Amino acid sequence: MKSHNGDWVPAAGIDDLPIGGRKLFRHYDKRIALFRTERDIYAIDNRCPHQGYALLQGDVKGEQLTCAWHNWKFELDEGGACSFGGEAVRSYPVEVRGGQVFVDVTDPAAEVMAPQLFGSLVEAMGDVDVGRMARDTMRLRQLGTPLAEVVKEGVTYGAPRMEYGWNHSLATLTDCLNLASLFEGELQALPVVQGMSVISQTEVRRPHRPRPDPIDPVEVYDSLEDALAAYPVLVDDEQHVAAEALMRGLIATGVAPDRIRHALLSAITDHFLGYGHPMIYAQKSFEMLSSIGWEHADTVLSPLVPNMIYSTRYDRLPYMKKFLRAWENESPDLDEQVAKQNGVAFDDQAFRTRILDGSDQEAFAALNAVLNDGVSVEKILNATSLAASERLRRFDIDLDADDTNEWGWLDVTHNLTYLDALRWAWSVSPSPELLRGVYHAVWFVNFTRQFDQRGGADDVVAFPVTDADSVLESIRAKDPEGTQAQIAGFEGPIEELHGALAQGASEDNSVAPIMIAHAVKTARASIVESEVVGSREPMMAAGRFLASPKRERFVFNATLEAIDFTKGRARGEGQ
Ligand code: FES
Repeated sequence: MKSHNGDWVPAAGIDDLPIGGRKLFRHYDKRIALFRTERDIYAIDNRCPHQGYALLQGDVKGEQLTCAWHNWKFELDEGGACSFGGEAVRSYPVEVRGGQVFVDVTDPAAEVMAPQLFGSLVEAMGDVDVGRMARDTMRLRQLGTPLAEVVKEGVTYGAPRMEYGWNHSLATLTDCLNLASLFEGELQALPVVQGMSVISQTEVRRPHRPRPDPIDPVEVYDSLEDALAAYPVLVDDEQHVAAEALMRGLIATGVAPDRIRHALLSAITDHFLGYGHPMIYAQKSFEMLSSIGWEHADTVLSPLVPNMIYSTRYDRLPYMKKFLRAWENESPDLDEQVAKQNGVAFDDQAFRTRILDGSDQEAFAALNAVLNDGVSVEKILNATSLAASERLRRFDIDLDADDTNEWGWLDVTHNLTYLDALRWAWSVSPSPELLRGVYHAVWFVNFTRQFDQRGGADDVVAFPVTDADSVLESIRAKDPEGTQAQIAGFEGPIEELHGALAQGASEDNSVAPIMIAHAVKTARASIVESEVVGSREPMMAAGRFLASPKRERFVFNATLEAIDFTKGRARGEGQ
Protein backbone atom coordinates (compact mmCIF):
# COMPACT_ATOMS: atom_id res chain seq x y z
CA MET A 1 0.00 0.00 0.00
CA LYS A 2 1.70 3.21 -1.11
CA SER A 3 0.26 6.69 -1.00
CA HIS A 4 1.60 10.22 -0.79
CA ASN A 5 0.98 9.92 2.95
CA GLY A 6 3.57 7.24 3.43
CA ASP A 7 4.52 3.72 2.67
CA TRP A 8 2.07 1.69 4.76
CA VAL A 9 2.69 -2.03 4.83
CA PRO A 10 0.72 -4.77 6.63
CA ALA A 11 2.68 -5.91 9.66
CA ALA A 12 0.38 -8.31 11.53
CA GLY A 13 -3.22 -9.39 11.91
CA ILE A 14 -4.79 -7.73 14.93
CA ASP A 15 -5.74 -11.14 16.27
CA ASP A 16 -2.07 -12.15 16.27
CA LEU A 17 -1.26 -9.22 18.55
CA PRO A 18 -3.40 -9.47 21.69
CA ILE A 19 -3.20 -6.84 24.45
CA GLY A 20 0.12 -7.28 26.23
CA GLY A 21 1.49 -9.03 23.15
CA ARG A 22 4.51 -8.33 20.98
CA LYS A 23 5.66 -9.42 17.57
CA LEU A 24 8.65 -8.99 15.28
CA PHE A 25 7.94 -7.68 11.80
CA ARG A 26 10.51 -7.74 8.99
CA HIS A 27 10.47 -5.43 6.00
CA TYR A 28 13.55 -5.64 3.77
CA ASP A 29 16.46 -4.61 6.02
CA LYS A 30 14.18 -3.30 8.75
CA ARG A 31 13.42 -5.25 11.92
CA ILE A 32 10.47 -3.67 13.67
CA ALA A 33 9.11 -4.66 17.08
CA LEU A 34 5.33 -4.33 17.56
CA PHE A 35 3.94 -3.92 21.08
CA ARG A 36 0.28 -3.78 22.06
CA THR A 37 -0.63 -2.25 25.41
CA GLU A 38 -4.02 -1.56 26.98
CA ARG A 39 -3.96 1.82 25.26
CA ASP A 40 -2.42 1.44 21.85
CA ILE A 41 -0.23 -0.40 19.36
CA TYR A 42 3.38 0.74 18.85
CA ALA A 43 6.06 -0.03 16.29
CA ILE A 44 9.73 0.67 17.04
CA ASP A 45 13.12 -0.46 15.77
CA ASN A 46 13.88 -3.81 17.32
CA ARG A 47 17.55 -2.92 17.74
CA CYS A 48 18.26 -1.09 21.00
CA PRO A 49 20.26 2.08 20.26
CA HIS A 50 22.54 1.31 23.18
CA GLN A 51 24.31 -1.89 22.20
CA GLY A 52 21.98 -3.36 19.66
CA TYR A 53 20.21 -6.08 21.64
CA ALA A 54 16.60 -6.96 20.78
CA LEU A 55 14.03 -4.68 22.35
CA LEU A 56 11.37 -7.28 21.66
CA GLN A 57 12.66 -9.03 24.74
CA GLY A 58 12.27 -5.92 26.88
CA ASP A 59 9.80 -5.36 29.67
CA VAL A 60 6.68 -3.19 29.11
CA LYS A 61 5.01 -1.45 32.03
CA GLY A 62 2.19 0.89 31.04
CA GLU A 63 3.60 2.71 28.00
CA GLN A 64 7.23 2.35 29.07
CA LEU A 65 9.58 -0.21 27.54
CA THR A 66 12.72 -1.24 29.42
CA CYS A 67 15.50 -2.94 27.47
CA ALA A 68 16.34 -6.27 29.09
CA TRP A 69 20.10 -5.82 28.79
CA HIS A 70 21.08 -2.56 30.45
CA ASN A 71 17.76 -1.05 31.44
CA TRP A 72 17.51 1.85 29.02
CA LYS A 73 13.89 3.03 29.10
CA PHE A 74 11.82 4.22 26.15
CA GLU A 75 8.44 5.94 26.22
CA LEU A 76 6.34 4.23 23.58
CA ASP A 77 3.63 6.92 23.63
CA GLU A 78 6.22 9.68 23.17
CA GLY A 79 7.64 8.43 19.91
CA GLY A 80 10.28 6.21 21.54
CA ALA A 81 11.83 9.03 23.65
CA CYS A 82 14.55 7.81 25.98
CA SER A 83 13.77 8.47 29.66
CA PHE A 84 16.81 6.58 30.98
CA GLY A 85 19.84 6.00 28.80
CA GLY A 86 21.38 7.97 25.99
CA GLU A 87 19.25 7.98 22.86
CA ALA A 88 15.67 7.59 21.61
CA VAL A 89 14.63 4.58 19.57
CA ARG A 90 13.04 5.18 16.21
CA SER A 91 9.26 4.68 16.19
CA TYR A 92 6.93 4.21 13.21
CA PRO A 93 3.34 5.36 12.68
CA VAL A 94 0.76 2.58 13.14
CA GLU A 95 -2.84 2.24 11.91
CA VAL A 96 -5.35 -0.58 12.22
CA ARG A 97 -7.62 -1.16 9.28
CA GLY A 98 -9.88 -4.14 8.54
CA GLY A 99 -8.38 -6.25 11.29
CA GLN A 100 -4.84 -5.59 10.06
CA VAL A 101 -2.02 -3.62 11.68
CA PHE A 102 -0.30 -1.35 9.16
CA VAL A 103 3.09 0.35 9.74
CA ASP A 104 4.38 3.33 7.79
CA VAL A 105 7.96 2.34 6.98
CA THR A 106 8.79 5.54 5.08
CA ASP A 107 12.26 6.85 5.89
CA PRO A 108 12.34 10.59 6.44
CA ALA A 109 14.04 12.60 3.70
CA ALA A 110 17.78 13.20 4.09
CA GLU A 111 17.14 16.96 4.51
CA VAL A 112 15.01 16.16 7.55
CA MET A 113 17.24 13.46 8.99
CA ALA A 114 20.62 15.14 8.63
CA PRO A 115 20.00 18.14 10.95
CA GLN A 116 18.54 15.80 13.57
CA LEU A 117 21.57 13.53 13.34
CA PHE A 118 23.99 16.45 13.58
CA GLY A 119 22.08 17.65 16.66
CA SER A 120 22.34 14.17 18.12
CA LEU A 121 26.07 14.06 17.32
CA VAL A 122 26.65 17.27 19.27
CA GLU A 123 24.70 15.87 22.21
CA ALA A 124 26.79 12.71 22.03
CA MET A 125 30.00 14.77 22.18
CA GLY A 126 28.63 16.57 25.21
CA ASP A 127 28.11 13.19 26.88
CA VAL A 128 31.37 11.63 25.61
CA ASP A 129 29.09 8.91 24.26
CA VAL A 130 31.36 7.18 21.74
CA GLY A 131 28.71 4.64 20.76
CA ARG A 132 26.26 7.36 19.81
CA MET A 133 28.94 9.34 17.98
CA ALA A 134 29.72 6.22 15.96
CA ARG A 135 26.04 5.53 15.24
CA ASP A 136 25.31 9.10 14.19
CA THR A 137 28.39 9.12 11.99
CA MET A 138 27.30 5.91 10.28
CA ARG A 139 23.73 7.14 9.86
CA LEU A 140 25.02 10.35 8.32
CA ARG A 141 27.21 8.29 6.01
CA GLN A 142 24.14 6.30 4.97
CA LEU A 143 22.56 9.60 3.95
CA GLY A 144 25.62 10.34 1.82
CA THR A 145 27.10 12.95 4.17
CA PRO A 146 30.85 13.44 3.52
CA LEU A 147 33.11 12.71 6.48
CA ALA A 148 34.42 16.29 6.29
CA GLU A 149 30.92 17.48 7.26
CA VAL A 150 30.96 15.22 10.30
CA VAL A 151 34.40 16.49 11.24
CA LYS A 152 33.23 20.09 10.82
CA GLU A 153 30.83 19.43 13.70
CA GLY A 154 33.80 18.32 15.79
CA VAL A 155 35.67 21.51 14.89
CA THR A 156 32.78 23.80 15.80
CA TYR A 157 32.35 21.88 19.05
CA GLY A 158 36.01 21.75 20.02
CA ALA A 159 37.74 24.87 18.64
CA PRO A 160 35.84 27.48 20.68
CA ARG A 161 36.27 25.47 23.89
CA MET A 162 40.05 24.98 23.79
CA GLU A 163 41.10 26.87 26.87
CA TYR A 164 44.58 27.87 25.74
CA GLY A 165 43.97 27.66 22.03
CA TRP A 166 44.94 24.92 19.60
CA ASN A 167 45.79 21.61 21.16
CA HIS A 168 46.20 17.95 20.31
CA SER A 169 42.50 17.26 20.06
CA LEU A 170 41.99 19.38 16.95
CA ALA A 171 45.27 18.17 15.45
CA THR A 172 44.13 14.59 16.00
CA LEU A 173 40.78 15.24 14.36
CA THR A 174 42.55 16.72 11.33
CA ASP A 175 44.85 13.74 10.97
CA CYS A 176 41.99 11.33 11.50
CA LEU A 177 40.16 12.89 8.59
CA ASN A 178 43.35 12.70 6.52
CA LEU A 179 43.74 9.02 7.36
CA ALA A 180 40.15 8.08 6.50
CA SER A 181 40.89 7.67 2.79
CA LEU A 182 43.34 4.87 3.64
CA PHE A 183 40.48 2.69 4.85
CA GLU A 184 38.06 0.78 2.71
CA GLY A 185 34.29 1.15 2.64
CA GLU A 186 32.42 1.75 5.86
CA LEU A 187 35.58 1.45 7.96
CA GLN A 188 36.56 4.91 6.70
CA ALA A 189 34.49 6.18 9.61
CA LEU A 190 36.83 4.55 12.16
CA PRO A 191 39.50 7.28 12.38
CA VAL A 192 36.85 9.99 12.30
CA VAL A 193 35.00 8.45 15.24
CA GLN A 194 38.34 8.21 17.04
CA GLY A 195 39.03 11.90 16.32
CA MET A 196 35.57 12.97 17.46
CA SER A 197 36.02 10.91 20.60
CA VAL A 198 39.33 12.65 21.39
CA ILE A 199 37.73 16.07 20.83
CA SER A 200 34.83 15.31 23.13
CA GLN A 201 36.99 13.75 25.85
CA THR A 202 39.30 16.76 25.81
CA GLU A 203 36.82 19.61 25.51
CA VAL A 204 33.65 18.29 27.16
CA ARG A 205 31.86 20.75 29.43
CA ARG A 206 34.42 23.49 28.93
CA PRO A 207 32.95 26.95 28.46
CA HIS A 208 33.73 28.81 25.26
CA ARG A 209 37.02 30.70 25.50
CA PRO A 210 36.41 34.46 25.49
CA ARG A 211 37.83 36.10 22.36
CA PRO A 212 38.58 39.72 21.60
CA ASP A 213 36.56 41.31 18.81
CA PRO A 214 38.30 41.67 15.45
CA ILE A 215 39.85 45.04 14.76
CA ASP A 216 40.12 46.86 11.46
CA PRO A 217 43.81 46.20 10.63
CA VAL A 218 44.23 49.21 8.33
CA GLU A 219 42.63 51.60 10.78
CA VAL A 220 44.87 50.43 13.63
CA TYR A 221 48.12 49.70 11.75
CA ASP A 222 47.82 52.11 8.76
CA SER A 223 48.23 49.43 6.10
CA LEU A 224 47.80 45.70 5.64
CA GLU A 225 51.55 45.29 5.22
CA ASP A 226 52.16 46.95 8.58
CA ALA A 227 49.39 44.92 10.19
CA LEU A 228 50.84 41.65 8.90
CA ALA A 229 54.31 42.69 10.07
CA ALA A 230 52.89 43.59 13.49
CA TYR A 231 51.54 40.12 14.14
CA PRO A 232 54.84 38.36 14.97
CA VAL A 233 55.85 41.34 17.11
CA LEU A 234 52.66 41.06 19.16
CA VAL A 235 53.25 37.33 19.62
CA ASP A 236 56.81 38.01 20.70
CA ASP A 237 55.53 40.56 23.23
CA GLU A 238 52.91 38.07 24.43
CA GLN A 239 50.14 40.56 23.74
CA HIS A 240 47.44 37.98 23.49
CA VAL A 241 44.39 40.22 23.15
CA ALA A 242 45.92 42.54 20.55
CA ALA A 243 47.35 39.62 18.56
CA GLU A 244 44.10 37.67 18.43
CA ALA A 245 42.05 40.80 17.65
CA LEU A 246 44.45 41.47 14.78
CA MET A 247 44.34 37.88 13.49
CA ARG A 248 40.54 37.93 13.55
CA GLY A 249 40.60 41.31 11.84
CA LEU A 250 42.90 40.09 9.07
CA ILE A 251 40.55 37.17 8.41
CA ALA A 252 37.42 39.34 8.55
CA THR A 253 38.96 41.87 6.17
CA GLY A 254 39.50 39.14 3.59
CA VAL A 255 43.30 39.21 3.57
CA ALA A 256 44.60 36.42 1.32
CA PRO A 257 45.17 33.11 3.16
CA ASP A 258 48.81 32.87 2.06
CA ARG A 259 49.64 36.24 3.59
CA ILE A 260 47.97 35.32 6.86
CA ARG A 261 49.78 31.99 6.78
CA HIS A 262 53.16 33.64 6.33
CA ALA A 263 52.55 35.96 9.28
CA LEU A 264 51.66 32.97 11.46
CA LEU A 265 54.66 30.94 10.32
CA SER A 266 57.04 33.86 10.82
CA ALA A 267 55.92 34.23 14.42
CA ILE A 268 56.39 30.50 14.96
CA THR A 269 59.98 30.48 13.72
CA ASP A 270 60.94 33.64 15.60
CA HIS A 271 61.64 31.13 18.34
CA PHE A 272 61.54 27.38 18.45
CA LEU A 273 58.03 27.63 19.81
CA GLY A 274 56.54 24.96 22.03
CA TYR A 275 58.84 22.05 21.11
CA GLY A 276 57.45 22.26 17.58
CA HIS A 277 53.76 22.18 18.48
CA PRO A 278 52.66 25.54 16.98
CA MET A 279 54.26 24.57 13.65
CA ILE A 280 52.38 21.26 13.70
CA TYR A 281 49.14 23.01 14.64
CA ALA A 282 49.59 25.58 11.87
CA GLN A 283 49.98 22.75 9.35
CA LYS A 284 46.90 20.97 10.70
CA SER A 285 44.82 24.13 10.78
CA PHE A 286 45.43 24.81 7.09
CA GLU A 287 44.83 21.16 6.23
CA MET A 288 41.56 21.31 8.13
CA LEU A 289 40.51 24.49 6.34
CA SER A 290 41.20 22.92 2.98
CA SER A 291 38.76 20.14 3.99
CA ILE A 292 35.98 22.21 5.56
CA GLY A 293 36.40 25.54 3.76
CA TRP A 294 38.09 28.90 4.36
CA GLU A 295 34.80 30.31 5.68
CA HIS A 296 35.72 28.59 8.95
CA ALA A 297 39.08 30.39 9.17
CA ASP A 298 38.05 32.51 12.15
CA THR A 299 37.00 29.42 14.12
CA VAL A 300 40.09 27.43 13.18
CA LEU A 301 42.88 30.03 13.07
CA SER A 302 42.12 32.37 15.93
CA PRO A 303 42.81 29.63 18.55
CA LEU A 304 46.32 29.36 17.10
CA VAL A 305 47.07 32.76 18.62
CA PRO A 306 46.84 31.89 22.34
CA ASN A 307 48.65 28.64 21.67
CA MET A 308 51.55 30.55 20.14
CA ILE A 309 51.55 33.20 22.85
CA TYR A 310 51.58 30.67 25.67
CA SER A 311 54.11 28.34 24.07
CA THR A 312 57.52 27.95 25.62
CA ARG A 313 60.32 29.70 23.74
CA TYR A 314 62.68 26.76 23.58
CA ASP A 315 65.49 28.94 22.34
CA ARG A 316 65.51 30.59 25.77
CA LEU A 317 66.03 27.33 27.63
CA PRO A 318 69.45 25.85 28.40
CA TYR A 319 68.74 23.00 25.96
CA MET A 320 69.48 25.09 22.88
CA LYS A 321 72.30 27.20 24.32
CA LYS A 322 75.28 25.54 22.62
CA PHE A 323 73.57 25.30 19.26
CA LEU A 324 72.51 28.94 19.38
CA ARG A 325 75.96 30.06 20.39
CA ALA A 326 77.32 28.37 17.28
CA TRP A 327 74.58 30.09 15.26
CA GLU A 328 75.40 33.51 16.72
CA ASN A 329 79.12 33.03 16.15
CA GLU A 330 78.54 32.17 12.54
CA SER A 331 75.61 34.57 11.94
CA PRO A 332 74.46 32.89 8.72
CA ASP A 333 72.99 35.19 6.12
CA LEU A 334 69.57 33.59 5.76
CA ASP A 335 68.56 35.74 2.76
CA GLU A 336 71.68 34.67 0.97
CA GLN A 337 71.21 31.00 1.89
CA VAL A 338 67.65 31.05 0.55
CA ALA A 339 68.77 32.69 -2.69
CA LYS A 340 71.77 30.43 -3.11
CA GLN A 341 70.01 27.09 -3.58
CA ASN A 342 71.11 25.23 -6.68
CA GLY A 343 71.53 21.68 -7.91
CA VAL A 344 74.83 21.11 -6.12
CA ALA A 345 75.68 17.54 -5.06
CA PHE A 346 74.89 16.62 -1.48
CA ASP A 347 76.37 13.85 0.66
CA ASP A 348 73.15 13.19 2.50
CA GLN A 349 74.55 10.21 4.44
CA ALA A 350 77.41 12.28 5.87
CA PHE A 351 74.99 15.08 6.75
CA ARG A 352 72.66 12.62 8.44
CA THR A 353 75.47 11.12 10.52
CA ARG A 354 76.70 14.54 11.64
CA ILE A 355 73.31 15.75 12.80
CA LEU A 356 72.50 12.43 14.45
CA ASP A 357 75.77 11.82 16.26
CA GLY A 358 77.73 15.06 16.23
CA SER A 359 77.87 17.65 18.98
CA ASP A 360 75.52 20.66 18.96
CA GLN A 361 78.19 22.71 17.24
CA GLU A 362 78.87 20.02 14.66
CA ALA A 363 75.19 19.66 13.84
CA PHE A 364 74.90 23.43 13.36
CA ALA A 365 78.04 23.53 11.25
CA ALA A 366 76.81 20.67 9.07
CA LEU A 367 73.60 22.49 8.21
CA ASN A 368 75.23 25.86 7.80
CA ALA A 369 77.83 24.41 5.45
CA VAL A 370 75.36 22.69 3.13
CA LEU A 371 73.19 25.80 2.98
CA ASN A 372 76.25 27.90 2.16
CA ASP A 373 77.10 25.40 -0.57
CA GLY A 374 73.69 25.96 -2.10
CA VAL A 375 72.14 22.55 -1.35
CA SER A 376 68.39 22.79 -1.80
CA VAL A 377 66.27 22.92 1.33
CA GLU A 378 64.14 20.04 0.01
CA LYS A 379 67.20 17.75 -0.08
CA ILE A 380 68.17 18.88 3.41
CA LEU A 381 64.65 18.21 4.66
CA ASN A 382 64.74 14.72 3.14
CA ALA A 383 68.00 13.88 4.91
CA THR A 384 66.71 15.39 8.16
CA SER A 385 63.51 13.37 7.85
CA LEU A 386 65.53 10.17 7.62
CA ALA A 387 67.64 11.26 10.58
CA ALA A 388 64.48 12.02 12.56
CA SER A 389 63.16 8.57 11.69
CA GLU A 390 66.38 6.98 12.86
CA ARG A 391 66.04 8.85 16.13
CA LEU A 392 62.66 7.17 16.70
CA ARG A 393 64.15 3.85 15.70
CA ARG A 394 66.97 4.31 18.21
CA PHE A 395 64.77 5.49 21.07
CA ASP A 396 65.38 3.70 24.34
CA ILE A 397 61.94 2.24 25.03
CA ASP A 398 62.86 1.56 28.67
CA LEU A 399 63.07 5.33 29.23
CA ASP A 400 59.36 5.59 28.63
CA ALA A 401 58.58 3.21 31.46
CA ASP A 402 60.87 5.02 33.90
CA ASP A 403 58.85 7.53 35.92
CA THR A 404 61.93 9.01 37.53
CA ASN A 405 62.75 10.97 34.37
CA GLU A 406 60.61 13.48 32.52
CA TRP A 407 61.28 12.24 28.99
CA GLY A 408 59.55 9.60 26.98
CA TRP A 409 58.31 8.53 23.58
CA LEU A 410 56.31 11.70 23.03
CA ASP A 411 59.44 13.84 23.21
CA VAL A 412 60.97 11.93 20.34
CA THR A 413 57.99 11.46 18.02
CA HIS A 414 57.92 15.23 17.49
CA ASN A 415 61.14 14.96 15.53
CA LEU A 416 59.15 13.43 12.70
CA THR A 417 55.88 15.33 13.07
CA TYR A 418 57.69 18.66 13.33
CA LEU A 419 59.80 17.85 10.29
CA ASP A 420 56.70 16.97 8.31
CA ALA A 421 54.99 20.21 9.37
CA LEU A 422 58.11 22.19 8.48
CA ARG A 423 58.21 20.54 5.05
CA TRP A 424 54.66 21.76 4.48
CA ALA A 425 55.56 25.24 5.76
CA TRP A 426 58.61 25.48 3.52
CA SER A 427 56.59 24.32 0.50
CA VAL A 428 54.02 27.08 0.96
CA SER A 429 56.26 29.83 2.26
CA PRO A 430 59.94 29.37 1.31
CA SER A 431 61.66 32.32 2.94
CA PRO A 432 64.44 33.35 5.33
CA GLU A 433 61.93 33.20 8.17
CA LEU A 434 61.11 29.57 7.44
CA LEU A 435 64.79 28.71 7.02
CA ARG A 436 65.10 29.34 10.77
CA GLY A 437 62.66 26.43 11.17
CA VAL A 438 65.12 24.19 9.31
CA TYR A 439 67.83 25.09 11.83
CA HIS A 440 65.37 24.25 14.60
CA ALA A 441 64.64 20.85 12.99
CA VAL A 442 68.32 19.99 12.91
CA TRP A 443 68.79 21.06 16.52
CA PHE A 444 65.80 18.94 17.48
CA VAL A 445 67.13 15.76 15.88
CA ASN A 446 70.52 16.37 17.43
CA PHE A 447 69.18 17.23 20.91
CA THR A 448 67.19 14.02 21.21
CA ARG A 449 70.31 11.86 20.76
CA GLN A 450 70.39 11.61 24.55
CA PHE A 451 67.32 9.32 24.36
CA ASP A 452 68.95 6.72 22.13
CA GLN A 453 69.18 3.22 23.48
CA ARG A 454 72.75 2.33 24.37
CA GLY A 455 74.62 0.98 21.39
CA GLY A 456 72.30 2.67 18.88
CA ALA A 457 69.50 1.06 16.94
CA ASP A 458 69.63 -2.65 16.37
CA ASP A 459 70.13 -3.47 12.73
CA VAL A 460 66.75 -4.31 11.31
CA VAL A 461 66.63 -7.56 9.41
CA ALA A 462 63.74 -7.14 7.01
CA PHE A 463 61.12 -9.80 7.58
CA PRO A 464 59.26 -10.48 4.35
CA VAL A 465 55.46 -10.39 4.58
CA THR A 466 52.84 -9.83 1.92
CA ASP A 467 49.80 -9.41 4.14
CA ALA A 468 49.37 -6.01 5.79
CA ASP A 469 47.21 -7.62 8.47
CA SER A 470 50.37 -9.23 9.76
CA VAL A 471 51.83 -5.74 10.40
CA LEU A 472 48.62 -4.70 12.12
CA GLU A 473 48.70 -7.82 14.29
CA SER A 474 52.26 -7.03 15.25
CA ILE A 475 51.22 -3.54 16.37
CA ARG A 476 48.33 -5.01 18.36
CA ALA A 477 50.69 -7.58 19.90
CA LYS A 478 53.00 -4.73 21.01
CA ASP A 479 56.04 -6.02 19.20
CA PRO A 480 58.04 -2.90 18.25
CA GLU A 481 61.07 -4.54 16.65
CA GLY A 482 58.97 -7.16 14.86
CA THR A 483 56.74 -4.42 13.50
CA GLN A 484 59.57 -2.43 11.99
CA ALA A 485 61.14 -5.60 10.56
CA GLN A 486 57.84 -6.43 8.85
CA ILE A 487 57.46 -2.90 7.51
CA ALA A 488 61.01 -3.11 6.13
CA GLY A 489 60.22 -6.41 4.45
CA PHE A 490 56.66 -5.74 3.35
CA GLU A 491 56.14 -6.96 -0.20
CA GLY A 492 52.42 -6.28 -0.73
CA PRO A 493 50.75 -3.18 -2.18
CA ILE A 494 52.04 -0.09 -0.37
CA GLU A 495 48.50 1.29 0.12
CA GLU A 496 47.76 -1.74 2.28
CA LEU A 497 50.78 -0.98 4.44
CA HIS A 498 49.55 2.62 4.79
CA GLY A 499 46.16 1.23 5.78
CA ALA A 500 47.70 -1.03 8.45
CA LEU A 501 49.56 1.91 10.03
CA ALA A 502 46.44 4.08 9.88
CA GLN A 503 44.38 1.37 11.50
CA GLY A 504 47.02 0.64 14.13
CA ALA A 505 46.90 4.32 15.07
CA SER A 506 43.11 4.67 14.94
CA GLU A 507 42.14 1.51 16.80
CA ASP A 508 42.14 1.25 20.56
CA ASN A 509 45.82 0.40 20.90
CA SER A 510 46.24 3.54 22.99
CA VAL A 511 44.08 4.67 25.89
CA ALA A 512 44.96 8.20 26.94
CA PRO A 513 43.81 10.87 24.43
CA ILE A 514 47.33 12.33 24.37
CA MET A 515 48.70 8.94 23.27
CA ILE A 516 46.03 8.51 20.62
CA ALA A 517 46.90 12.02 19.39
CA HIS A 518 50.56 11.16 18.98
CA ALA A 519 49.85 7.77 17.44
CA VAL A 520 47.63 9.32 14.79
CA LYS A 521 49.96 12.29 14.13
CA THR A 522 53.07 10.14 13.86
CA ALA A 523 51.43 7.54 11.62
CA ARG A 524 50.14 10.18 9.25
CA ALA A 525 53.47 12.07 9.15
CA SER A 526 55.37 8.83 8.53
CA ILE A 527 53.22 7.89 5.55
CA VAL A 528 53.70 11.32 3.98
CA GLU A 529 57.43 11.40 4.73
CA SER A 530 57.99 7.89 3.40
CA GLU A 531 56.31 8.85 0.15
CA VAL A 532 58.33 12.05 -0.23
CA VAL A 533 61.76 10.67 0.67
CA GLY A 534 61.17 7.33 -1.08
CA SER A 535 62.14 5.23 1.94
CA ARG A 536 60.38 2.90 4.37
CA GLU A 537 62.32 4.34 7.30
CA PRO A 538 59.72 6.90 8.47
CA MET A 539 57.05 4.18 8.50
CA MET A 540 59.39 1.78 10.30
CA ALA A 541 59.93 4.48 12.92
CA ALA A 542 56.19 5.07 13.31
CA GLY A 543 55.52 1.33 13.42
CA ARG A 544 58.05 0.90 16.22
CA PHE A 545 56.37 3.71 18.16
CA LEU A 546 52.84 2.40 17.57
CA ALA A 547 53.78 -1.11 18.68
CA SER A 548 55.84 -0.04 21.66
CA PRO A 549 54.39 -0.66 25.11
CA LYS A 550 54.00 2.90 26.41
CA ARG A 551 53.39 4.62 29.68
CA GLU A 552 49.84 5.89 29.29
CA ARG A 553 49.15 7.22 32.76
CA PHE A 554 51.19 9.80 34.53
CA VAL A 555 50.09 9.43 38.13
CA PHE A 556 53.32 7.95 39.48
CA ASN A 557 55.40 10.58 37.71
CA ALA A 558 53.12 13.36 39.01
CA THR A 559 53.43 12.00 42.53
CA LEU A 560 57.23 11.86 42.34
CA GLU A 561 57.26 15.44 41.09
CA ALA A 562 54.96 16.49 43.90
CA ILE A 563 57.31 14.94 46.46
CA ASP A 564 60.15 17.07 45.05
CA PHE A 565 57.83 20.05 45.00
CA THR A 566 57.01 19.81 48.69
CA LYS A 567 60.74 19.61 49.42
CA GLY A 568 61.37 22.75 47.42
CA ARG A 569 63.69 21.00 44.98
CA ALA A 570 63.92 22.46 41.49
CA ARG A 571 64.38 20.18 38.52
CA GLY A 572 67.96 19.61 37.53
CA GLU A 573 69.14 20.78 40.94
CA GLY A 574 70.04 17.33 42.29
CA GLN A 575 69.25 16.12 45.80
S1 FES B 1 21.37 -2.94 24.69
FE1 FES B 1 19.56 -2.05 25.41
S2 FES B 1 20.14 -1.04 27.16
FE2 FES B 1 21.94 -1.92 26.47
